[in-house]
Amino acid sequence: MIAGEKEVDSWTRIMLLYRSAVEEIRTKIDILNDEFQQTHRYNPIEYVKTRVKSPESIAKKLKRYGREDNIENMVSYCNDIAGIRIVCSFTSDIYKLADMIGKQSDITVLSIKDYINHPKASGYKSYHMIVTIPIFLSDNVVDTRVEIQIRTIAMDFWASLEHKIYYKFEGDAPEYISHDLRECAHIVSMLDAKMLSLNEAIMKAKKEQRDEQKVEQNAHERLNMLINQAKSGS
Ligand code: GTP
Ligand code: MG
Repeated sequence: MIAGEKEVDSWTRIMLLYRSAVEEIRTKIDILNDEFQQTHRYNPIEYVKTRVKSPESIAKKLKRYGREDNIENMVSYCNDIAGIRIVCSFTSDIYKLADMIGKQSDITVLSIKDYINHPKASGYKSYHMIVTIPIFLSDNVVDTRVEIQIRTIAMDFWASLEHKIYYKFEGDAPEYISHDLRECAHIVSMLDAKMLSLNEAIMKAKKEQRDEQKVEQNAHERLNMLINQAKSGS
């Protein structure tokens, strides 16, 4: 084996694990979304994004953590090499999904960061889970770490714009911009709360409509039965 070939081989193998882990979790999310659609007649998930971190980003992160850039450190210290972002319609869906994911018997939840109930100083809101999922290879099973981020469309909109702005300023944005971003984060929270209560009001109105229709239908059926009984003289 020539120098470095072993490292390349283990790198390729590890990346295969992370790619597979992302796919496994994505399939689970798709199944939950389908089941939700069948039982509750709506999709809690707007869209799902997945990514496996690039070697450059992994190296940058290890440098930020003050760690040497090698495969062992990457596996030990980078929790987000495999990443999946679930974007939901409403805040309540986030907690329902997180609960359903956490309860799956092959998933182990290593940590949770609830930046929705405890937003970051920047105003960032999202629900983060670090989980492991077993990946079955031909000769062994490897528990592989995945970072799951769950947020609403509004939170996702804020986070992607904030990320772009911070990138432009290389993390050192002027105070008035950070202030305005925090204000926007507040507007996002109000929008999410309003959308949730609107949705609940719509669901309630729809249920009342269905109940009324059921009462009407029952009355019709009862009347028809009485007419038929009268006709047959019984
Ligand atoms: P990283 O080392 O940056 O991954 O942070 P961490 O290991 O302390 O984890 P944390 O849960 O705080 O953040 C993980 C990921 O959440 C980041 O890589 C970003 O994708 C996202 N994130 C966290 N904070 C912010 C923020 O203030 N703004 C935006 N736009 N995204 C954030
Ligand atoms: Mg990250």
